[in-house]
Amino acid sequence: MNVHDSEKVVGTLLAQGYLQVETPGEAGLVLYNTCSIRDKAEQKVFSRLQNFKKTAGKDKIFGVLGCVAQQEGEKIFDRAPHVSLVCGSASYPKFGDLLVQIENGDRHVTGLSLDTEDTFDTPLTRRDNPHRAYITIIEGCDKSCAYCVVPFTRGPERSRTGESVMAEARGLAEQGFTEIQLLGQNVNSYRDPSPAGWDFATLLARVAEVPGIRRVRYTTSHPRDFVKPIVDAMDANPVLCDHVHLPVQSGSTRVLAAMDRLYTRDEYMRRIDWLRNAKRNYSITTDIIVGFPGETEQDFQQTLELLDEVQYDSLFSFKYSPRPNTSALEMGDRLAEEEKQRRLAILQERQRAIQIRRNAEMIGATLEVLVEGHNQALAQWIGRTSDHCTLNFTHAEASLVGKYLPVRVTRSGPNSLVGEAVTVV
Ligand code: 5AD
Ligand code: SF4
Repeated sequence: MNVHDSEKVVGTLLAQGYLQVETPGEAGLVLYNTCSIRDKAEQKVFSRLQNFKKTAGKDKIFGVLGCVAQQEGEKIFDRAPHVSLVCGSASYPKFGDLLVQIENGDRHVTGLSLDTEDTFDTPLTRRDNPHRAYITIIEGCDKSCAYCVVPFTRGPERSRTGESVMAEARGLAEQGFTEIQLLGQNVNSYRDPSPAGWDFATLLARVAEVPGIRRVRYTTSHPRDFVKPIVDAMDANPVLCDHVHLPVQSGSTRVLAAMDRLYTRDEYMRRIDWLRNAKRNYSITTDIIVGFPGETEQDFQQTLELLDEVQYDSLFSFKYSPRPNTSALEMGDRLAEEEKQRRLAILQERQRAIQIRRNAEMIGATLEVLVEGHNQALAQWIGRTSDHCTLNFTHAEASLVGKYLPVRVTRSGPNSLVGEAVTVV
């Protein structure tokens, strides 16, 4: 989501006559697009702002964008007085106007209103990858998970119209993009605001029918809103990739309730069953938070058992990080940092063993990859399978990036596969 936000901001800058330079040192305007999902990400912004000012900050204009901007607001001007622009993502539709104020010499420019119906619907987006394109379908979040800062930094949910999403998808296909990734904090609660009123499953099915588009992915899902018609839509059209990212956060129903996640472990497992009983083999990945306030050893064991039960293909795991404004901030029974670290290490080790075993089972299989790049050091092409696994392979061809081709898996590791191309292109 942040990567794509940056693409949109860069597009606006280019449209207003700015030029992109190779290094921040050469730039006259330096913007930091920031994340505040965990404390560490937030701290990084301020240390980078300080360090960069010391080394190369002379005669430059600095701006802070994204979630830290929204969260800290005008306080950023006090903490980092060399910053002239502070703008949260809900104000990006006004970003062009804010730039004009900067150009006119204003050194205290803010875009901090969350009171918006707008989505940042820009035809100006400058895309980093020539084959895969992101499309935001819904911004903001109406859930209130007890640990999460996003509803405070990205504001309430706003869905784009189905027609506007379709127009963007068709335009991308015409430009030669073959993979589309639909984005939102909670894509499952997408609802077309136009009279057509498409839900997410309908939108998925329609985007998958756009001629020229070979792969469609989406992220992120919320289990409560992940309904069976989404699985049916995926089953019906293999353009919809064999992968679902379904963040569970904890395997304990008690902790899920404390987190305000709005589902039990059993309800989550029902979604997993839909996917396991579907027509295709779907790769399932997740996010887990360890050490939420009050998480007991028994709760944690239930999360470990969930990993064994679901057999995730990979996961992102985090130590709970207290965030401003969130309801968990008031909860007692905080765990010590060392205990959170211990649980995180155990969880990651458990998952690593699962991935080693699952990936080894892939040896001998032939999978279609989209070639994403080339690794010079290993002399291997970097491929991505429909189920979102990295499958690197050897091939004598000089230029394969952007092509689709079948690759036979010959070796496996915990995080990726290695193989050989089976046809000459
Ligand atoms: N502490 C730790 N992890 C968090 N996440 C969100 N908020 C927090 C927090 N306060 C994790 C969740 C979410 C992912 C994007 O980041 O697992 O799914
Ligand atoms: Fe945060 Fe929960 Fe919304 Fe996801 S669904 S962005 S975790 S509040």
